[in-house]
Amino acid sequence: MCGIIGYIGKQNAIPILIKGLKRLEYRGYDSAGIAFFMNNKIGVRRCAGKIKDLESHIRGERLKSITGLGHTRWATHGKPSEENAHPHRAGGIVLVHNGIIENYFELKEELKKKGHVFTSETDTEVICHLIHSYSQNGLNFEDATREALKHVEGAYAIGIINEKEPQKILAVKKDSPLVIGLGKGEFFIASDIPAFLNYTKDVIILDNDEIASITHKGVSISKLHNSKPVKKEITKITWSPSMAEKSGYRHFMLKEIHEQPRAISDTIRGRFSLERAEVNLGEFSLKENDLKKLDKIFLVACGTSWHAALVGKYMIEEMARVPCEVDIASEFRYRKPLIPKGSLVIVITQSGETADTLAAQKESRKLGAKVLSICNVVGSTSAREADSVFYTHSGPEIGVASTKAFTTQLTGLYLFSIALAKAKKTLSSHEIRELFNELLQLPEKVEKSLQSNNAIIKIAKQFFRVRDFLYLGRGINYPIALEGALKLKEISYIHAEGYPAGEMKHGPIALIDNNMPVLALAPDDNILEKILSNMEEVKSRGGKVIAVATEDNTKVLSRASYILTMPKTNYYLTPIIFSIPLHLLAYHMAVLRKCNVDQPRNLAKSVTVE
Ligand code: M6R
Repeated sequence: MCGIIGYIGKQNAIPILIKGLKRLEYRGYDSAGIAFFMNNKIGVRRCAGKIKDLESHIRGERLKSITGLGHTRWATHGKPSEENAHPHRAGGIVLVHNGIIENYFELKEELKKKGHVFTSETDTEVICHLIHSYSQNGLNFEDATREALKHVEGAYAIGIINEKEPQKILAVKKDSPLVIGLGKGEFFIASDIPAFLNYTKDVIILDNDEIASITHKGVSISKLHNSKPVKKEITKITWSPSMAEKSGYRHFMLKEIHEQPRAISDTIRGRFSLERAEVNLGEFSLKENDLKKLDKIFLVACGTSWHAALVGKYMIEEMARVPCEVDIASEFRYRKPLIPKGSLVIVITQSGETADTLAAQKESRKLGAKVLSICNVVGSTSAREADSVFYTHSGPEIGVASTKAFTTQLTGLYLFSIALAKAKKTLSSHEIRELFNELLQLPEKVEKSLQSNNAIIKIAKQFFRVRDFLYLGRGINYPIALEGALKLKEISYIHAEGYPAGEMKHGPIALIDNNMPVLALAPDDNILEKILSNMEEVKSRGGKVIAVATEDNTKVLSRASYILTMPKTNYYLTPIIFSIPLHLLAYHMAVLRKCNVDQPRNLAKSVTVE
């Protein structure tokens, strides 16, 4: 879950590495470092803390180099400290690593017996020592790396430089993301594209067990284990550099919340025909015949994407009448799931690199299921390893708290459900057109929901000092209660729980007293009366009710202390509209509590460890 970057070119690498690391900081932010060539020697600067601490650490040194590596860390082996920060060095070999080396302990013990001295607690350092020991045995840089990695088990994206072969970077990938940027006379390696988006939009996505050798002249890629050259496609990225900037917003999270009307428009553009009343199945790389035969669907994901999966079950089962099971990815792979022949597993993942989700995806394919990945990152592992992909077009999501990726995932699931319903003939063309018409109005309605911002700030000011918070929802909006609670706890550190409102009387009602704020989702739907009763139950026990209700709903007035009204939409799209105020509330509470909204403690954007 770390971020790595490398540069080789004509410009001073140091500011490019620092800027790139800032763009990767969402991947981990407990320590950082850079390595660079100066006078044919490799210099390393590292420190505990964020990239701004690294910047202060090197300020005044006037470092200059045309080749270098950088790293921002999310600690797995060893605490965040200067010694454990990357780059790591053994002899003239210096490297940065993202991933986990599973057999590092055994390798370390063997190397220690041979006299190698370790200076960190990391798993990474063993790779340095292995490469160094093979170079000492006479192998050249590339062969020593190939040989060393034969002994390494686990996941890695690595950038390596060698004092003996200056002005060359080796980059190797297995199960952790690594992309190469191709500029004019300059080249980049990085864990994610935004790191070098200011310099180039031409990208090569490295595959597992590939090694790239990068010099000022160009990039050559070969298979790691047999040196066979590999011809790679160049992908043109459509994101603009400003998409990876804050553009005047105080935090990425706030910017990303406000980008939702645009993100949803981009996600639906060209993906259905109103006239023909059909979803453009090519966008899912699916065929109608395959959909017709589908009898069972599994939705698998983690965190916020799992909440999207829960909403997806309501959409698919109610529109297409196909049974769905929803699983948390880390549970799915170990529960020995029974997957009938011909089932479809839909994995939902913003990053496409979440280790648990990827493992569940592998397991599903092993068990014979087809996999559809709903994913935001082009060329990510999930997208490449799936049978079919639906890309959400939310643009890069940098804030650790997922917002626009979530609502575009829901948009993708809505389209998928309609496509399946059409194939299964459970919806008429007229009904499908109505669903499309509502979808077309969604960006504008999301825009309108964002206007609740000032009312939400007032509510946040009332409640930001509380210790606990309860979120209640029913039906398709029950997962939105879970989502509101997750968002609040992850960025404000307030203990929050989401509950299906009908379940409250079976336990959580015991928590209600004068100090307990309860946010109730009360859209105008067939179970409105039920949630109104649940709100009464809270109110009569002294709890403070904040209602999120459909505009013109007067029934909530007497039951809530605070009301946020949202535009009316159809049943399936209410989760999108109703998640907007919940994300804003979590954001403002966290800001008032002076929390680091974009980089909450102990978290990272893409969780590439199990
Ligand atoms: O990249 P993914 O969608 O696979 O990530 C899954 C979760 O790690 C992610 O949604 C996480 O829960 C977010 N921090 C929630 O805001």
